[in-house]
Amino acid sequence: MTNTISLPDDGRVPVGPALSMFDPIYLGIDEFGQPVYITLAYRNLLAGGEPGGGKSGLLNSIAAHAALSTDTRLVLLDGKLVELGMWEDVADEFVGPDIHHALAVLRRLQTVMNNRYAWLRAHGRRKLTRDDRLSIITVLVDEIAFFSATVGAKQEQEEFIALLRDLVARGRAAGIPVVAATQRPSFDIIPTSLRDLFGYRAAFRCTTPNSSNIVLGHGWAEQGYTATDISPTNQGAAYLIAEGGVPRRIKVAYLSDAQIESIADYAAWIRRPTTTPASSRVEWVKAA
Ligand SMILES: Nc1ncnc2c1ncn2[C@@H]1O[C@H](COP(=O)(O)OP(=O)(O)O)[C@@H](O)[C@H]1O
Ligand SMILES: [Mg+2]
Repeated sequence: MTNTISLPDDGRVPVGPALSMFDPIYLGIDEFGQPVYITLAYRNLLAGGEPGGGKSGLLNSIAAHAALSTDTRLVLLDGKLVELGMWEDVADEFVGPDIHHALAVLRRLQTVMNNRYAWLRAHGRRKLTRDDRLSIITVLVDEIAFFSATVGAKQEQEEFIALLRDLVARGRAAGIPVVAATQRPSFDIIPTSLRDLFGYRAAFRCTTPNSSNIVLGHGWAEQGYTATDISPTNQGAAYLIAEGGVPRRIKVAYLSDAQIESIADYAAWIRRPTTTPASSRVEWVKAA
């Protein structure tokens, strides 16, 4: 993607709002029309459901908030390239359909996480806060199964799962939240032990109560909360459950391609010069 950043003629920098990953993230509305927010700084989110349900739409809304958060770096894994591709210029890493790249990036994140825990321990602390001024590293994975069950050798897929599980289990307090989507909510892709590490789970339309339960948690379908009752034409509708809560029906806010492009463009502005999209750096130097 080409970077379309251009400076105003007089060299001024446009001023506008910037967010933080510690701020509530707007996800959409609930069934009463009330706004729904989540806080991802210390939590992970899992989105599951059949293809076309709206999982990538949710990931893009979260990516938009993260991109506009100046205290945040993005790490994107997208085997399909086009779901999160528009954020590539504002991301530290963008992994396409390449298991070796995915593994290298996850290993690096694991090292960063270990270093952050060593740092916390040295300071007698248990978690990062906004005041530490360390960036939140938001990891978005569109389609876990692509890396854990489709590409690469068995051993590589297993390493992917092990690294992802470690990040999901330990990343939260170190400021490395994971947001992951899967169109295959089955036990082989999302074992219960992994599912329970995600503090937020969103079940988009599912074909069976069992797959809805795999996302939301065992027993919810029997209590009437099942993503099988979402109409196939109601894309972006989901049941969202937060740790310890009851699932609620939501409709996720949807960003069009044009909106994503303009947000990503603006995000590149407010992130300069902490990220390094090569073309914007060149233009900035030229103008200075
Ligand atoms: N929140 C939403 N509101 C309205 N339409 C949506 C929403 N989310 C997705 N859609 C529509 O559904 C299509 C498929 O959504 P997508 O997020 O790609 O599904 P998934 O990732 O679950 O396969 C999108 O191209 C869009 O047209
Ligand atoms: Mg998708």
